[in-house]
Formats: sequence, structure tokens, C-alpha cells
Amino acid sequence: MLSWIDRLRGKTSSPMPSSQHPYFRATSEEVEAGPGECWHHAMPLPDGRRMKSTTMPSAGVQELMWEALQHIDLDGKSVLDIGAADGFFSLAAKASGAASVTALDLNYFGWPKNISAMSDAWNLPVLTKTGDFMTYEFEEKFDVVFCLGVLYHLENVFLAIRKLREITNIGGTIVIETQMTAIKHDLPIFESASDTFLTTGRHGKESVDSVGVSNYLFPNHAAMLNLADMYDLSAEALDGNVYTNRFPTRAIYVMRRTAGT
Ligand SMILES: C[S@@+](CC[C@H](N)C(=O)[O-])C[C@H]1O[C@@H](n2cnc3c(N)ncnc32)[C@H](O)[C@@H]1O
Repeated sequence: MLSWIDRLRGKTSSPMPSSQHPYFRATSEEVEAGPGECWHHAMPLPDGRRMKSTTMPSAGVQELMWEALQHIDLDGKSVLDIGAADGFFSLAAKASGAASVTALDLNYFGWPKNISAMSDAWNLPVLTKTGDFMTYEFEEKFDVVFCLGVLYHLENVFLAIRKLREITNIGGTIVIETQMTAIKHDLPIFESASDTFLTTGRHGKESVDSVGVSNYLFPNHAAMLNLADMYDLSAEALDGNVYTNRFPTRAIYVMRRTAGT
């Protein structure tokens, strides 16, 4: 019989996340959020169950994304998780051997209550910071920076890559997961999100004055490579994994800040 995550994958042969930490072994049994609570991530719980996400239709999406990131070396690394939300990826990094994890998000409904509760429950310490990463004054640089599901929420994608580079150690890695445009083109293009045109995603003009909520630009593959090159980062797309196969308009890029740049 297919397990719930196999059903989500659509096949049975893919490996489970390589980490043996119990954090990666939650079942599909869900715990309803309490009144007034909002959970984005279907967070694994130490008793084997998981929180029911109040914003996402299918539990297990985060695990699939995490599987796609398996070859990124986190052992002993300092990690920054931008837009950490309820902390699935922050805690996953800590459970995978990161030396330190800093989780940053805006002052949104469940922040930082949800991530702090999960961090305590799992005894996986993460440092939480609140603010817009574009203007946040970081006191250190990081070995690995996660920017997952954030890029298209930013008004200035160019300054964003500049900032990501600035806060990454030389030799460090930036991981960007993003919505892509569905428009195929060989040249670098960004599709605008719109409320009036049938674009890949809505703009959400009603939230334009709240940082990090509206959608702005959806890049194509060439645009992502070009963005990286503009700021002297190497870039590769992670493909051939269950996550990007299942969600073909999402992509994951690994950008590296190499020595001498
Ligand atoms: C779509 S959710 C992605 C959450 C998580 N990273 C993931 O991939 O599942 C976007 C998150 O990024 C946060 N965010 C958006 N813009 C941000 C910014 N400029 N600085 C910090 N956090 C931001 C939002 O508050 C939200 O929690």
C-alpha cells in the first residue's frame, strides 16, 4: 500500500529524506490548529503527528522540497532562513546538523509564537529575528541562506539578490525557491503579477503596502541565471527531483558566492 508521502510523490521508489532525525518521520495524522491560530507549515510534532496547515492544501509539500535540497551541506554551517514562517526549514536545518540557525520573518500572525513553540517542542534551538530582510541590519554573514518562497513577494528583485550576496560568506550558498513564469522564452524575462491580466499569479494590490504579501515578478530560467551572474554568483537549478516535477512552475536555484568575487 502507498504511504501518504508516496501518494503525494505519485510513485513509491523515491528515497525518504536522508536525515534519520525523528523530525523527518511525521505521519499524515493531523492536529487541528487552535481557535485564532494560523499555520502555514504542516509542522511535524514529536508525537509523530503534524499540525494541519491552515493555508496549504496538502501536507508533505515541505518534506518534498526538503528532499530536493538534500545535497546541500549543512553540517556545522551557520544558516539563515529568510521568511521562515512556522519554521519547517529552520528546524530541518538544525536537525540536519547546522551549527546555528537564524530564522527571520515579518511580524505576521503566527510569528514568532509558532516557530518558538516548535523549536522548544523538538529541542532544536533557532534564533528568531523579526523584520524585513531587505533593511535588516545583520551583524554577521551566513554560510547558507535560505530564501524559500520569498523572491516573488519582493518589490525589488535586483536589490534582493545584492542583499542576499552581501549577507552570505565567501564560499557560501544561497538557496532560492520561487514561483516561475509559465511563459517560455530563451531570453531573460520577468512576468509581472497582475490583478487585471491573466498572469501566472495575482498581484494582490490590496496588500501592496504590507511588505512581503503581494506578488511582483515571476522570472524565467534565463532571468534567474542572469540575476545570479549580475552579482557574480554561480547558479544551478535543482531539477530531477519530485518537488519540481510535481510543481513544474516552481523552481529551486542554488547560488554560490565563490572566492575572489
Ligand atoms: C510563501 S511564504 C514561504 C514560507 C517558507 N519559507 C516556505 O518556503 O514554506 C513567504 C514568507 O516570507 C515572508 N517574507 C516575505 N517577504 C519578506 C521580507 N522582505 N523579509 C522577511 N520575510 C519576508 C512572509 O512573511 C512569509 O512568511
